[in-house]
Amino acid sequence: MSFVSVERHGDVAVIVVDSPPVNALSQGVREGLVKHIELAESDDECKAVVIICAGRTFIAGADIKEFGKPPLEPYLPDVVARIEACEKPVVAAIHGTALGGGYEVALGSHYRIAAESAAIGLPEVHLGILPGASGTQRLPRLIGAGPALEIMLSGKPVKASAALKIGAIDRVSADDELKTNAIAFAEECIDTGPRRIRDMDAPAPDPDLFQATREKIAAKTRGLMSPERIIRCVELASTVDFDEGLAGERELFLECMASPQSAGLRHAFFAERQVSKVPGLGKETETRELQKLAVIGAGTMGAGIAYSCLAAGFEVTLLDNHAEGLARGEQTVKELYVGGVKRGKISESDMQNGLGRFQISQSYDDIANVDIVIEAVFESMAVKKEVFTALDGVLKPGAILATNTSTLSIDEIASCTSRPQDVIGLHFFSPAHIMRLLEIVRGSRTADDVIATSLKLAKRLGKIGVVVGNCFGFVGNRMLYSYGRESQLLLLEGAAPEAVDKALFNWGMAMGPNAVGDLAGLDVGFKVRQERTDLPDDPRFYRVADMLAEQGRFGQKTGKGTYLYEEGSRKPTADPEVAVMIRDEAIRLGVQQRDIDSQEIIERCVYGLIVEGARILEEGIASRSSDIDVVWMNGYGFPRYRGGPMHYADSIGLAKVYESVCALEKRFGSMYWEPPALLKTLAESGGRFAD
Ligand code: 3HC
Repeated sequence: MSFVSVERHGDVAVIVVDSPPVNALSQGVREGLVKHIELAESDDECKAVVIICAGRTFIAGADIKEFGKPPLEPYLPDVVARIEACEKPVVAAIHGTALGGGYEVALGSHYRIAAESAAIGLPEVHLGILPGASGTQRLPRLIGAGPALEIMLSGKPVKASAALKIGAIDRVSADDELKTNAIAFAEECIDTGPRRIRDMDAPAPDPDLFQATREKIAAKTRGLMSPERIIRCVELASTVDFDEGLAGERELFLECMASPQSAGLRHAFFAERQVSKVPGLGKETETRELQKLAVIGAGTMGAGIAYSCLAAGFEVTLLDNHAEGLARGEQTVKELYVGGVKRGKISESDMQNGLGRFQISQSYDDIANVDIVIEAVFESMAVKKEVFTALDGVLKPGAILATNTSTLSIDEIASCTSRPQDVIGLHFFSPAHIMRLLEIVRGSRTADDVIATSLKLAKRLGKIGVVVGNCFGFVGNRMLYSYGRESQLLLLEGAAPEAVDKALFNWGMAMGPNAVGDLAGLDVGFKVRQERTDLPDDPRFYRVADMLAEQGRFGQKTGKGTYLYEEGSRKPTADPEVAVMIRDEAIRLGVQQRDIDSQEIIERCVYGLIVEGARILEEGIASRSSDIDVVWMNGYGFPRYRGGPMHYADSIGLAKVYESVCALEKRFGSMYWEPPALLKTLAESGGRFAD
């Protein structure tokens, strides 16, 4: 099958790439581009060339599916070089997004025109690599080292109008006239001839820029290897000649490509796209119409959910029984809007428009007509049941009844309604308007169209919806219990809270577990544990957190939790009092304290996650190991470059993981460390969770 064809328009050859869905540069596309450039060059009738794409976008980059496999000729850098070497002027006509290798093809072209709605970008950094088809050498020559670094290090797409301003493209065209304008542009260029970026002046060496850039990105790119290599490539662009720079880029690109980081980030890319394909839920599944929405409970979570839904264009009613709480919730929504305007994230008119669709109420009668309700009240089964009974009494038939519970049984909540098929869990993460994850919890009787509608809702809210099964804590919080259990036991056994946090932070977690506990509030988990009837028979289980909560040390909100906080500060400082409390409690419980190194901290916490993840897979609570990874990367600050806990386990090798879990079982007993059967089977057969 041919992915590249040619049309003739007068003396311009229009090379059309047509390789759905996103015209990625597979071997066939690369071969087709070279073939048609060569044909155009040898055709005396042809005076100029346009490269354009069919379908929804210009070339979206190298074909990521080919990564990790033996490379096939022609290689992309050679394709780009061949386009640039063409003796006839070549114009790239961009619509949709020209990303990565796609924009590098445009940089190999001699001129660039883009549709008004198009964008260009070099997002390779998100895949743990760097622009490896000459982008690091060509872009700094075209627009300067500073702006080129900005584009490559952020990985963010740049809209056509902004790209024109910085010279990253030459012209902007009305969307529906792109092809006509590109052909006209090519005609104009016949006299001027090719303009090759490789012949342009290199940017002047600027050590200050590179040093300042390193400092600027240090915190954001912690632990990542490709940003530093991108900077080195741009340093090369300004200090050595073009070909030497290209050779340097190649070497650093291959180093990144072979790294576990890139494998982890590529896994994350595909896992996040896989997640919307729910086994058993066909494309033909109908969805319900959603426009009017109500949120019950005006606390921080409820207000955050209401704001997210307003921002996505819904009509939203925020309902709370308590007038005071409702007023606070209303205020929170307004403040989120004002904050968004202040930071330039939204316009004044978006705010007015959003607030125009926002109502508050204390009466269930006011929400009888909504299409979906999201309940976000206090995490107690009794309270939830009260709310769902009331909702069942007033809502119109076909409305979706969603609960934002983070742990409780969806089936039990559904049991107090006459319509369990309409009940679903929509577990948002705090802060709800920022966190990308939405756990969609299917009860045993939840209807397929309710699940499909929830996935669509997640997309509309700009979130990643992951469908999971019903059990205590679902996927995310159930695994969090294992991770937290180990981090808590480590404290009793003698590790300082700051040592536990530092080890896991340095390993790549967004925050350490003790700092997270203080941020979320130690009272929250304490109350949940008090409601649970299935806790392990172990006096050490979450003992430190419970002890702190019992003393009113709830974390940041009370100025002290595991750590101390100065008035108005979120910076944790170690509290010697807590160290004494933990030591005394360890003595009381007969736990021997000892020195614990960071390797043990990481192993116990991360293996705790993996073991629970394996059980979750075994039980079918998650349908794919990659779904678990998506939950942990997007909801719990698991380092993306490690690909999520299950991918991380696969990358170590399950035989090795199994061996380590057996060793932990031997040392700490079977209560927590009995290896799941799935782990054992896969370890013995050389399999992976991903299989
Ligand atoms: N290679 C292979 N498949 C790709 C791909 C790529 N570069 N980009 C997207 N796809 C696939 C997706 O996996 C998905 O497949 P599926 O339908 O089987 O799940 C399909 O295309 C559609 O993708 P999205 O669901 O993401 O579609 P959207 O319309 O939401 O987004 C997009 C389109 C903006 C192009 C987005 O897909 C994207 O950002 N793609 C990645 C772009 C990228 O990272 N390019 C750089 C690649 S690395 C590179 O070029 C190296 C070079 O410098 C040498």
